[in-house]
Amino acid sequence: MTEDIVLPASREKNAGVDGEPLLQVSKLTKHFPVKGGFPIRRTIGAVQAVDGIDITVHAGESFGLVGESGCGKSTTGRLITRLLQPTTGTISYRGQDISHANRKQLAPIRSEIQMIFQDPYSSLNPRQTVGKIISGPMEINDINPEGGREKRVRELLEIVGLNPEHYNRFPHEFSGGQRQRIGVARALALEPKLIVADEPVSALDVSIQAQVVNLLQKVQKELGIAFLFIAHDLAVVRHFSQRVAVMYLGKIIEVGDRDSIYTRPRHPYTHALLSAVPEVNLTDEDSAGARERIRLAGDVPSPISPPSGCRFRTRCWKAQDKCAAQEPPLIQISGNRADHLTACHFPEEPTIEGRDEDIVLDPALAALEEGQAE
Ligand SMILES: Nc1ncnc2c1ncn2[C@@H]1O[C@H](COP(=O)(O)OP(=O)(O)O)[C@@H](O)[C@H]1O
Ligand code: SF4
Ligand SMILES: [Mg+2]
Repeated sequence: MTEDIVLPASREKNAGVDGEPLLQVSKLTKHFPVKGGFPIRRTIGAVQAVDGIDITVHAGESFGLVGESGCGKSTTGRLITRLLQPTTGTISYRGQDISHANRKQLAPIRSEIQMIFQDPYSSLNPRQTVGKIISGPMEINDINPEGGREKRVRELLEIVGLNPEHYNRFPHEFSGGQRQRIGVARALALEPKLIVADEPVSALDVSIQAQVVNLLQKVQKELGIAFLFIAHDLAVVRHFSQRVAVMYLGKIIEVGDRDSIYTRPRHPYTHALLSAVPEVNLTDEDSAGARERIRLAGDVPSPISPPSGCRFRTRCWKAQDKCAAQEPPLIQISGNRADHLTACHFPEEPTIEGRDEDIVLDPALAALEEGQAE
């Protein structure tokens, strides 16, 4: 495990300039065309993978993005890192609109926004040594750190809790958790300001998840790097993110500071997601006051033809006619704190009791949160 992270001088001043957000995403959409027909194939529809989302991430902040598989999280991550081109909407990075920037225009900021992927194995080239993998981004960007690239790679290995002597080893010689540490070292090689981490611990054992989350948390806090942390359940994000957005079928349906989302959620879907989080460490007596487990009926509808009005209405126990006719705006509804926005015509009452203790993935993660409380 890593203990001390060496803070490069350049990282110390990673705070935002005049409060300007590091990343501002506005009305972002990504529609993938669906082709069909014979003999001439033409566009017959579109997968509305991301459909008009707003996200703001400040320097050094960790922002969590949560939702079931297929709701558009990875597409959002790929749009922000500009591996994909948006259909409409804007992505501003440090005040600069990069939504349609070309390769050359993106070059100076490519190093500042890095991505960590879900599968630590397929994202590392099996034929390259760890040294080569981690120094790759430095080579591509022609960056020559003081003392040379090898020295920097050894430092990075130490930062992520790996043995610098493993410089010449290959990915298959490492465990899943260690491979994800290599992925983190590679992302850190260019001293980024923002890391988009797409389900970085989903493929790992729970005990290893805690260690990797711990490492990422150290990176965020001690190096001042902002994170967009993508996860499919609310448990992991809770230990990592100051603000959390919940996505459903291409839209953000609730967003707020983590206390609001975890202890005073208003959207029925957020309630359902929270109730799906495993309950552990609860004796029978303790669970007496806990909320009922909500089972979501049916599958997520197709993003090619999402339901009219509120997209959650086909699975919502509170749906009424208005929900089919009018899309609920994402707004601060009565009873919410500032910056806690909910898109629902008939929101749930804020629930405070019985919630906090329920959402614990693992004792190791719980211990992390204790260290974080301040
Ligand atoms: N390149 C693509 N072409 C067509 N559809 C895509 C493509 N990438 C993703 N999708 C679709 O977009 C939706 C959102 O996918 P994704 O962003 O991967 O969701 P998540 O990461 O939340 O699981 C899914 O329905 C998926 O099938
Ligand atoms: S708007 Fe209606 S269907 Fe949508 S979440 Fe709220 S109550 Fe349910
Ligand atoms: Mg994904």
